[in-house]
Amino acid sequence: MAANVRDVLREAEEHLDRHNTKMPRHDALLLLSAVMGQRVETLLAHPELHVPTHDLSTYWEWLQKRARNYPLQYLTGRQEFFGRSFVVSPSVLIPRPETETVVQACLDFLTTLERPATVLDIGTGSGCIALTLLCEVSNLTACAVDTSREALQVAMQNSHNLNCSDRLELLQGSTVDPLLIGTSRRFDLAVSNPPYVARADSVEPEVEHEPGQAVFAGQDGLQVYSEIFSKTACVLASTGRLILEAGFGQAEKIARLGKENGWHEMERRPDLAGIDRCLVLHHIGTAGPTQ
Ligand SMILES: C[S@@+](CC[C@H](N)C(=O)[O-])C[C@H]1O[C@@H](n2cnc3c(N)ncnc32)[C@H](O)[C@@H]1O
Repeated sequence: MAANVRDVLREAEEHLDRHNTKMPRHDALLLLSAVMGQRVETLLAHPELHVPTHDLSTYWEWLQKRARNYPLQYLTGRQEFFGRSFVVSPSVLIPRPETETVVQACLDFLTTLERPATVLDIGTGSGCIALTLLCEVSNLTACAVDTSREALQVAMQNSHNLNCSDRLELLQGSTVDPLLIGTSRRFDLAVSNPPYVARADSVEPEVEHEPGQAVFAGQDGLQVYSEIFSKTACVLASTGRLILEAGFGQAEKIARLGKENGWHEMERRPDLAGIDRCLVLHHIGTAGPTQ
């Protein structure tokens, strides 16, 4: 069996190509880099490097999984988001580049506040939204909620890695439910990238490996938005904003659903592909638990 970087990469690329992996060279290289604990640049500059036998056997296990559309990020355990590296596991959605549009909208709002602010991240998953905001805004504190205990453990690990754990509170439950027990907290900003695929819709083969509760939401994909719209006003300051990610073609439906629940759409932002991805909303009713 081949044992230097050049030959191993060639065989790996051919294997992935035969299984119709979209970016065989890219994936072969990133996986080898992760297995060997070497930078991609090092592997490219030193194709003569020896690949140790134990790395080789892990590498071929990973390649076989990758050839069956298992996400690369679950193999390497990492995903870049807003310039930082996040730990990911099969318990969490892999952070997507389009979610950076949502983070930017949050940052633009937070910079208008000239005081220490608080943010609530609903459906935090890996924690990528809340933790990016904490890293970018030094006087911010955050509360992050998720129904998944395993996801919260990943978010906690990321909060330690990014030195933000002292400003992040993690709560298990649905949308804002854990905040409704015995407290009257008000956040300056609530943000969410909820699951938004309709239960009957088909998804890319890689997405089938991501947690169902992070991807699917009822018959029309709007189930968690509905819950957020009906419950979030009572934990938001009267001047607060709700910033939501929208799935492809969903922005209008979400805005309408929001309006029915007393939310006024202030802004809609496209992602880099020009898809309406982010809604900024303000609650126009009087703040209170019965809104
Ligand atoms: C689309 S993922 C987003 C994860 C992360 N915020 C991101 O942007 O990558 C949605 C997350 O919401 C969680 N979730 C699903 N339903 C929920 C609910 N009713 N309340 C709170 N979290 C929920 C899932 O477990 C998942 O972690």
